[in-house]
Amino acid sequence: MDSKIEFCEIDKLVSSIEKIETDQILLIADLNVWGMYSKIVPLLELKGKKVIFWKAPDGEKVKTFENLNSAVNFFLSKNVHRNAHLISLGGGATSDFSGMVAAILLRGIKWSTIPTTLLSMVDAGIGGKVAINSAHGKNLIGAFHHPENIWIAHEFLETLPKEEFQSGLGEIIKYAFLNKEINNSIKTEEPLLEIIKKCVLYKEAIVKEDFKEKGQRKILNFGHTLGHAIETTYSLSHGISVCWGIAIVLGIFQKKNLLSELNELKELLSLDLEDSPWLNKTFPISDIMRLVKKDKKSTSSTEMDFIFCEEIGTPTIEKISFEKIEKTLMDKSDELRKLSI
Ligand SMILES: NC(=O)c1ccc[n+]([C@@H]2O[C@H](COP(=O)([O-])OP(=O)(O)OC[C@H]3O[C@@H](n4cnc5c(N)ncnc54)[C@H](O)[C@@H]3O)[C@@H](O)[C@H]2O)c1
Repeated sequence: MDSKIEFCEIDKLVSSIEKIETDQILLIADLNVWGMYSKIVPLLELKGKKVIFWKAPDGEKVKTFENLNSAVNFFLSKNVHRNAHLISLGGGATSDFSGMVAAILLRGIKWSTIPTTLLSMVDAGIGGKVAINSAHGKNLIGAFHHPENIWIAHEFLETLPKEEFQSGLGEIIKYAFLNKEINNSIKTEEPLLEIIKKCVLYKEAIVKEDFKEKGQRKILNFGHTLGHAIETTYSLSHGISVCWGIAIVLGIFQKKNLLSELNELKELLSLDLEDSPWLNKTFPISDIMRLVKKDKKSTSSTEMDFIFCEEIGTPTIEKISFEKIEKTLMDKSDELRKLSI
C-alpha cells in the first residue's frame, strides 16, 4: 500500500485532516512542537471529529516500551475503535513511535504523519518503518506500517534548531550520492524545497519497489552502518554521523575519488562538518565493531550487507564479513586518524 504525499501550506493541515473518513482522531504530538504550533495548527478543534490527545515527550525520549505501553493503554481507556485514525505531529522520533502505536493498537489502525524536522521530511517520515529503542540498541523493536498520508509543510523548518537542521542536511547529502538528479539539484543550487521534494519522491519510489527492505531499499542505508555506531559512540546527531559514515566508506573502504564530492556537497549545503571527533586520535575500532555487529543489516553472525558507492547514482550492495570491516579499519588506522572532509 502507498502513502499519499502532499506538500502543503501549514494552514491547510486542519482541513486535510478533517477530510479523513473517521469520527475519531488519535493525536500524538511532540511536546516542543505542540508548544510552538498548537495555535497555528489547532488539531484539538477538528470539525466532526473527537480528538484523543497523547502528548509525547520530545524527540528520542519518546521511543521507549514504557511510553508505548502508556500511549496504547491511554487510547484503549478512551474506547478507541478500529476506524480511528492516528495523527503524528513531530520529527522522526515522534513518527517512529506513533507508527508503532498505530501498528499494534487493535492489531493495526490507519495513521498519517506531519513531519516537522528536515530529517523527517526527507527520510524518517517516509516509508513506513516504525520503531522504538531497546536497552540493546536503537530501533530494534519495530514494524513496517505505512502512513496513509504524509503532509509536508515547510513552514515548520522556520523554528527548527540549527543542529536539527544540519542533521537533516546530512541525509540529503546521502541522497546526493545515491541519485544523480538530487546531486544535480544541489550543484545547480535549486531552492531547498525543490531538493526536499526530490528526496521524498526518490525515497518513496524505492520503498514502493521494496517495502520490506529485502533488496534495493537497502541502498538507503549508505553510510548508516558506521554512522549509527559513530552516533552512539560520540553522541553526534543522526545526519552528521551518517556523513562521517559516508566519509569512512569513501575514504577508507573504496577508491577515494568521491571524497572531494562529499566536500563539495557539504560546502554547497552549508553543512558545518567540523573535524571528526577522532581527528589525530585513535579511532575506537573495538567499540565501533561491537555496535556494527548489532546493526539490523547483519545477515548472519559473521557478515552484513554493506553499501558502496563508487559512482554518483550507482550504489551497490555487497556482503562483507565483520572480520573484513575490522581488518580494513585496522589496516588503515593512520588514514582514519587524519580523515577529514
Ligand atoms: N523510520 C525511518 O525510516 C527513520 C529514518 C531516519 C531516522 N529515523 C529516526 O528519526 C529520529 C530522529 O528524528 P528527527 O531528526 O526528525 O528528530 P526528533 O524527532 O528526535 O526531534 C529532534 C528535536 O527537534 C524538535 N523539533 C521537532 N520539530 C521541530 C520544529 N519544527 N521546531 C522546533 N523544534 C522541533 C523536537 O522537539 C526534538 O527536541 C531517530 O529516532 C531515528 O531513529 C527513522
